[in-house]
Amino acid sequence: MVPKAWTVHNVDGDRRVIVTKELPGNRWLDILTAAGCRVEVCTSEDVLTVDEIKEQMGDSCDGVIGQLTEDWNASLFGALAAAGGTAYSNFAVGYNNVDVAGATAAGIPVGNTPGVLTETTAEMAVALTFSAGRRIAEADRFMRGGRYHGWLPAMFMGTRFVGATVGVIGAGRIGAAYGRMMVEGHKMNLVYYDLYPNETLEKYVADYSTFLVAHGEEPVTATRAETVEELLAVADVVSVHTVLDESTHHLINAETLAVMKPDAILVNSSRGPVIDEDALVAHCRANPEFAAGLDVFEDEPAMKEGLADLDNVVIVPHIASATKWTREGMATLAAANVAGILQGYPLWESDDVLPFLAGDVPRAVPSIVNSAELENE
Ligand code: GLV
Repeated sequence: MVPKAWTVHNVDGDRRVIVTKELPGNRWLDILTAAGCRVEVCTSEDVLTVDEIKEQMGDSCDGVIGQLTEDWNASLFGALAAAGGTAYSNFAVGYNNVDVAGATAAGIPVGNTPGVLTETTAEMAVALTFSAGRRIAEADRFMRGGRYHGWLPAMFMGTRFVGATVGVIGAGRIGAAYGRMMVEGHKMNLVYYDLYPNETLEKYVADYSTFLVAHGEEPVTATRAETVEELLAVADVVSVHTVLDESTHHLINAETLAVMKPDAILVNSSRGPVIDEDALVAHCRANPEFAAGLDVFEDEPAMKEGLADLDNVVIVPHIASATKWTREGMATLAAANVAGILQGYPLWESDDVLPFLAGDVPRAVPSIVNSAELENE
């Protein structure tokens, strides 16, 4: 194992915090520095292994900001606790890479970064939807390949979105934002699948429909599907926004793909393993009218064999949350999670985390996913 390079900030800080990747912006570092932390940042782009993180923590580490690419398993949380650590934050809203029960057993709070990715991630899902449906990447390759020899009436025909049906699987913050963007921007009808009804979203669409009708346009609807299959059967576009857990692993597979319209568009900006990627490759091969837009992959960073050869698939490298504002916001929230715990601050009571992003940092911990479990320990 080649030793990774680390850089140290605030060398004399008396709390030791490890940050496993360089993070954007400065506010996060200011927050940790103000909390008296010596901050050690790994400058390598390679994913750190469990052993490398353990080695860096050694026998004295107060807190860690880790990445979704790392395997935060029970043994790693055990090692953090044994090193005297009391705080961990993922630099992500999703935390399927974290054994939360293992962290709770070790007494470690697990922070995440909700509230700053919502629109940014939804915007990427919209971008993938249009790239796939209007064949942007394929047409770009065509141009660059010198194959454009003149305008033709039937060249690169794609999907018409206005009035079509958009399906959202998982209507939480990001899914609902995507649904609203598609309904409001393109007057689509919405069908969503979620364990819980999203009344705010339904009311939003109903009010927007009233507005459209008042302007002499067709109404739009929002319907909650009883099953994923019911949604897949009617949607022209399906965007996946679920968490990844046992219940959603391979939610989209050969059988569920077969339920979809042959010319539907499937978008995934949640987690790769929600889709059986081999099944998707086979489906896209067999159905050239079908299109997919993927930000995430089952064996990330690898792609399943054949995926990259398909013209009807648009692929980007897990960048849905990659805007400066969002990534700096995520870094700020992750740092505020760790610094807040180390300073004994209480949990922030609101879903609105924007007060952490500018001005005086609230004396609170923005978001801990296992706070209730830790209280019951
Ligand atoms: C990004 O994928 C995140 O979960 O924050």
